[in-house]
Amino acid sequence: MEIIVLSDPAAVGRHAARLIADVLGRRPDPVLGVATGSSPQATYSELAALVREGLDLSRATAFALDEYVGLDPAHPEAYRSVIHRDVTVPLRMDPARVHVPDGAAVDLRAACMQYEEAIEAAGGIDVQLLGIGANGHIGFNEPGSSLGSRTRVKTLAPRTRRDNARFFGGDAGAVPVHCLTQGIGTILRARSVLLVATGESKAAAVAAMAEGPLGAFCPASALQLHERATVVVDEAAASLLGDREYYDFARDNAPGGALDFD
Ligand code: GLP
Repeated sequence: MEIIVLSDPAAVGRHAARLIADVLGRRPDPVLGVATGSSPQATYSELAALVREGLDLSRATAFALDEYVGLDPAHPEAYRSVIHRDVTVPLRMDPARVHVPDGAAVDLRAACMQYEEAIEAAGGIDVQLLGIGANGHIGFNEPGSSLGSRTRVKTLAPRTRRDNARFFGGDAGAVPVHCLTQGIGTILRARSVLLVATGESKAAAVAAMAEGPLGAFCPASALQLHERATVVVDEAAASLLGDREYYDFARDNAPGGALDFD
């Protein structure tokens, strides 16, 4: 795991966008895994700036990590809507190539299997962008999720519903109870993963992910198993990391980033 600590959220967004653009720019039909939440917003803004400067993502395919179950897909906080607003439009992607799990499907299990098949059919994900929940979740894989899990229905943790209440008028009761999420096993199949985290509220989760034991109670710790995992964090999110000396030394003496896989 490569850990890059930068000064502030804007620097995190700039660096993450450049890493993603490097990977996508080298592939004729790149496949990007996209995340929702506040963490990747700066990355999307910076990627949008690169698109305005000439980065062409019109042939790129995207797969979202997760979706709420039972929300009208047109609801502004349904991840289908969020991804359209934050990713498809600003990155000038072809909407037909942007996929979100179908949380409104009658047969949710079948929808999950089809989602896994669609990722496979696209050739797998080149770079998976991730945020991290304050409880260490990635996607909506809550603590206790199988480290080998694939796309499936999950029940959200009460803490996650409280954390996401801000998107639902401050009412945790309005946050759906269930979701579809790529599994941890699905995420680990991406050719590279890039996790971004900013702010003090993520510091404990970041430290547990990077320096704690590998285990299902910190789902993000599964990234310790990934051969090309990059973590870009700001000072606040890095504040509980123990081995800053090494991370900064390695950042300043990098032989080539973990996303550099061609
Ligand atoms: C959300 C999403 C995750 C996201 C995480 C953190 O509920 N399902 O993909 O990474 O929780 O969100 P935020 O970046 O807003 O703190």
